[in-house]
Amino acid sequence: MLCLAPLILLAWNGLNGNLSANPISDITNETGIWTIRFIVATLAITPLRRITRLHGLITFRRMIGLFAFFYGSLHFTTYIWLDQFFDWRAILKDIPKRPFIMIGFASFVLMIPLAVTSTQKMIRRLGGRRWDILHRLIYITAVGACIHYIWLVKVVTYRQIVYATLVAALLLFRLLWKLRGESLQKTHQPAKKPLAA
Ligand code: HEM
Repeated sequence: MLCLAPLILLAWNGLNGNLSANPISDITNETGIWTIRFIVATLAITPLRRITRLHGLITFRRMIGLFAFFYGSLHFTTYIWLDQFFDWRAILKDIPKRPFIMIGFASFVLMIPLAVTSTQKMIRRLGGRRWDILHRLIYITAVGACIHYIWLVKVVTYRQIVYATLVAALLLFRLLWKLRGESLQKTHQPAKKPLAA
């Protein structure tokens, strides 16, 4: 219910005439910002779980990730439907003028296989290792989302910097954790026995 609150609030503001003179832009921006927020929240679960040892957090990861996809779908639909009225020619003309849309589109498309394979059945069918590798696509989506956000503004403000820093920190955490794991593995490996003479 909490994850639906941004949508309910947006609908409430829309119905009560509380949006700006350009409501379509408001809806695009609001759904876009919530997509990036949910992507960051999804990426934050694993580091939080490792630091706090609250392993139960994992149960929220799939739902939060699916909400990122849900808000991404609303954002995409707002652009295609409310902004461009399914006018594919206008869209093709718009993209070279605003190339950041292409990056947003690529980031969104990469989320589709993640959403499709999010069920227990798909995890079993793919096997844990392959599922893990596939779900690393979220890293590319997160970087793409930050590029999309930075590229679309004329002047970069603290908002874009905050999201880009969060994504960089969450990805760096994973890299450092992996390196730590590898070095621990090396130090705990039993010393090789000298060859018998
Ligand atoms: C992972 C996918 C995506 C993320 C995270 C994302 C994120 C964002 C964010 C944060 C904003 C700005 C919000 C603000 O200023 O408050 C935005 C704006 C926008 N996005 Fe996306 N977006 C994504 C995908 C897409 C896609 C698929 C399209 C269209 C095909 C798109 C088109 C736009 C447009 C047209 C704007 C408004 C730009 C303007 O104000 O002129 N985005 N997006």
